[in-house]
Amino acid sequence: MNSILTKNYPIYFDKVAYSELNSYLENNSFSKIIVLTDSNTNLYCFEIFNSKLSKLNTGAISNITFPYGEKNKNISTCESIWNQLSKLGADRNSLIINLGGGVVSDLGGFIASTFMRGIKFINIPTTLLSMVDASIGGKTGVDLNNLKNQIGVINNPSMIVVDPVFLKTLPQDEIKSGFSEMIKHALISGLDYWNSIRSIELKNLYAENVFYNSIVIKTEIVDKDPYEKKIRKILNYGHTIGHAIESFCLTSDNHKELTHGHSIAIGMILEGYISTVKLNFDKHQNNAIKNLLLSNFEIIKFSSNDIEEIIKLMRFDKKNNKGELNFILLKEIGKAVIDQKVDIDLIKKSFLYLNDIRPIR
Ligand SMILES: NC(=O)c1ccc[n+]([C@@H]2O[C@H](COP(=O)([O-])OP(=O)(O)OC[C@H]3O[C@@H](n4cnc5c(N)ncnc54)[C@H](O)[C@@H]3O)[C@@H](O)[C@H]2O)c1
Ligand SMILES: [Zn+2]
Repeated sequence: MNSILTKNYPIYFDKVAYSELNSYLENNSFSKIIVLTDSNTNLYCFEIFNSKLSKLNTGAISNITFPYGEKNKNISTCESIWNQLSKLGADRNSLIINLGGGVVSDLGGFIASTFMRGIKFINIPTTLLSMVDASIGGKTGVDLNNLKNQIGVINNPSMIVVDPVFLKTLPQDEIKSGFSEMIKHALISGLDYWNSIRSIELKNLYAENVFYNSIVIKTEIVDKDPYEKKIRKILNYGHTIGHAIESFCLTSDNHKELTHGHSIAIGMILEGYISTVKLNFDKHQNNAIKNLLLSNFEIIKFSSNDIEEIIKLMRFDKKNNKGELNFILLKEIGKAVIDQKVDIDLIKKSFLYLNDIRPIR
């Protein structure tokens, strides 16, 4: 497969990817082309990317970089970058290329969508998580203090270029983080994908097409419901609790910062349990999912104080309505149900279930 044409923009892979990108850049005569990187993608990905550009385009680009990490996905980083864009003389006919993981594409997409009321941007994902999930679908934004993605807009990139060469320098924990979103894709899409994903070795993710499956699943769902009125919500499976855990661990003294995928993996264990109670989701299947998650992710346990804090953070989830917590739960693998109200007692019970689990690695 060389490309996927979503309703709004193309996603290019393999051989055609850079020829499409180069002709797009040449044909559009942008006044400035700014490549946005974080400190890691600046080090590991920028030269590789530069070497794939035609001479004409290499001469036209500038680079802006910021320190890596979720902690920097905030409005003060945006302000610094808006200032740098301004100093570089960027105008409404400039282009931003986001070269990085989900932090770069979320932040860079938001910067592009707001600078001079909006300039074009392209996503070149460099993490597995951003290749299969974050770079697709037009959600852009930043955190407000430690509250995830509270400020942002939905605005599509002009193009996405997926090149797995970047995965060579990606640490194993970050590969696993992306795998977590792929497990989520399998759980919301159906048994076929679940069966291939549960038996895959991480080193074969790209070779065995599962990687493309995830991209197709994400694009199909987003195309049906770009503004998340209904079906797109299912992509948030594991995220209602997972995001709160991610936020909690970002600032907690007793817990280390977790990758996004690790937080979502714990979220899926908790929400899987809630699904068995509320929607009668099959316990054997739930166990199989839990075991796959635990064979990839360290189990994290929370004290009763932690749990109170995490539940408080869940009040900021964007899916909530009139103060009620709104979950996506599983009825079956492939049948995710949206807008499920879950009461606090059951959420607490799910944490007790988590605390009773013995690690399997
Ligand atoms: N917009 C969406 O639809 C969407 C979907 C899922 C997740 N997200 C967001 O994406 C973010 C997580 O994305 P992520 O996991 O890509 O995190 P990330 O961008 O922080 O990247 C993870 C780490 O890998 C480093 N890195 C990136 N590419 C590298 C490479 N090729 N070689 C070596 N190191 C590299 C980064 O500097 C960082 O330290 C979260 O903020 C999450 O909220 C957004
Ligand atoms: Zn996610």
